[in-house]
Amino acid sequence: MLIYLDSANLDDVKAAADLGVLDGVTTNPTLIAKERVDYGKRLADICQIVKGPVSAEVIATEAKAMLIEGRERAKIAPNIVVKLPCTIEGLKACKAFSDEGTKTNMTLCFQTLQALMVAKAGAFLVSPFIGRLDDIGEDGMELIRTIRAVYDNYGIKTQILAASVRHTNHLLHCALAGADVATCPLSVIKDTMKHPLTDIGLERFLADYKAAFPG
Ligand code: E4P
Repeated sequence: MLIYLDSANLDDVKAAADLGVLDGVTTNPTLIAKERVDYGKRLADICQIVKGPVSAEVIATEAKAMLIEGRERAKIAPNIVVKLPCTIEGLKACKAFSDEGTKTNMTLCFQTLQALMVAKAGAFLVSPFIGRLDDIGEDGMELIRTIRAVYDNYGIKTQILAASVRHTNHLLHCALAGADVATCPLSVIKDTMKHPLTDIGLERFLADYKAAFPG
């Protein structure tokens, strides 16, 4: 499973890239709003650090305007992926972008049929939001499983990008469900390498060594 960072914060991007296992980055208008920086400039800075896919979400809500905005974003760097909502207008824009060879990430996916339709329109990535479904008492992971099953039925190549990942248990179950990619905050990426027994074990190894070879 590929791991993307879900952030528009440059320090987070640098820290995640330094780990050596970062495959891409996703941004969204909320993440950019938190940074209070120019969206285009920040995307260019992220693309300097990360060579994998970097998702740039459009603000426009109508297909024609999405195309204009997305084309501008796509000029920023060759690894920009235009992020569009799973709406009727987003679907039209997705088809137009895929016809002209621009990769898309179809976001705000909350039902399997949205994922089927955007795949038909040539989406490169589809982003089912696990955490937000869990928040309203549904089972977000079930959406990953059903999209996986439908995509496998038809040999669909659109990659399933699990989004709205809140903790490592989400990440583990994304991998078990066959998500192609998971995008998560830096804290979740770091948490994958934490276990109290690792810390205790390391402490003991070092203490034993020091006791045997003082100085
Ligand atoms: C990523 O592409 C999504 O925009 C992001 O994961 C949404 O996460 P949230 O539900 O925590 O806002």
